[in-house]
Amino acid sequence: MLGFFTRLLADKRAEPADDLLSDLIAVREEGDRLSEDELMSLAFLILFAGYENTVQLIGNAVLALLQHPDQLAALRHNPDQVALAVEEFARFETPGSLAIRRFPVEDVTIAGVTVPAGETVWVSLASANRDPARFPDPDRLDLARDTSGHLALGHGIHYCLGAPLARAETEIAVTALLERFPVLALADGDLRWRRSLRARGLVALPVTYARKNS
Ligand code: HEM
Repeated sequence: MLGFFTRLLADKRAEPADDLLSDLIAVREEGDRLSEDELMSLAFLILFAGYENTVQLIGNAVLALLQHPDQLAALRHNPDQVALAVEEFARFETPGSLAIRRFPVEDVTIAGVTVPAGETVWVSLASANRDPARFPDPDRLDLARDTSGHLALGHGIHYCLGAPLARAETEIAVTALLERFPVLALADGDLRWRRSLRARGLVALPVTYARKNS
C-alpha cells in the first residue's frame, strides 16, 4: 500500500486532477502545511476510514434488522424513516468501537480516575453509545428512538470527515437491499465477528433471500 500511495501521489503531483489527493498536494505545496508523512498518513486514513467503517456499518445494520423482525417490518412499512434508522444502527452496533488513541497533555481526572499526562487512552465509543444514562434501555434496537449525541462518528474537532458520505452510502444500501429483496432472513450457522480491537463487523453475513419478481 505504501508503494501504491507513493506512486499515486507522484502521479497526482505530476498531473493534478479534480480530486481530493490533488487538493491535498496543492495545500502542501502552497503553504507547507502538510509534511510528506502527513500527506501519506492522510491518504491511508481516508482510504481505510472511508471504506472499512462503512462496510461494517452496512453489514451491522442488516444484521440488526434481520435479528429484529419487528423493526425490519416497521422500516419496510416506512422506508422514508431510513435516515433515522441509520443513526440507530450506528449507535446500536458501532462500527469503530474505539476512537483513535488519545494522549492527555496534562493530568486529567475522570470519574475518580486520574490519567497522567502522556499516557495512552482508549476511548470506547461503543460503550458510550450504550450508556443507560444517555439512552434508555440501550441494548434494545429502537429505530424510532432519539439518538442525538451518539458518538459513532466521533465528536469535536476530529468529528468524522466522511460522515455525510457514510450516512448516504448506508441509507442507499439498506434501501436498495430491502427494495430488491422482499424476503430476506438470516441463514443458519454461527456468525463470525472480525478479530479486531477497533473494527466491529462480521467476517460474513449469510442470508437467505427471494428477489423481487422471482
Ligand atoms: C460508517 C462509516 C464511518 C464511521 C462509523 C466513521 C467513524 C469515525 C470516527 C468515530 C471518527 C473519529 C475518530 C476519533 O475521534 O478518534 C472518524 C474520523 C474520521 N473519519 Fe470516519 N467514519 C466513517 C466513514 C468515513 C468516511 C466515508 C470517510 C472518508 C471518506 C471517513 C474519514 C474520516 C477521517 C479522515 C477521520 C479523521 C478526522 C480527524 O481526525 O480530524 N470516515 N470517523
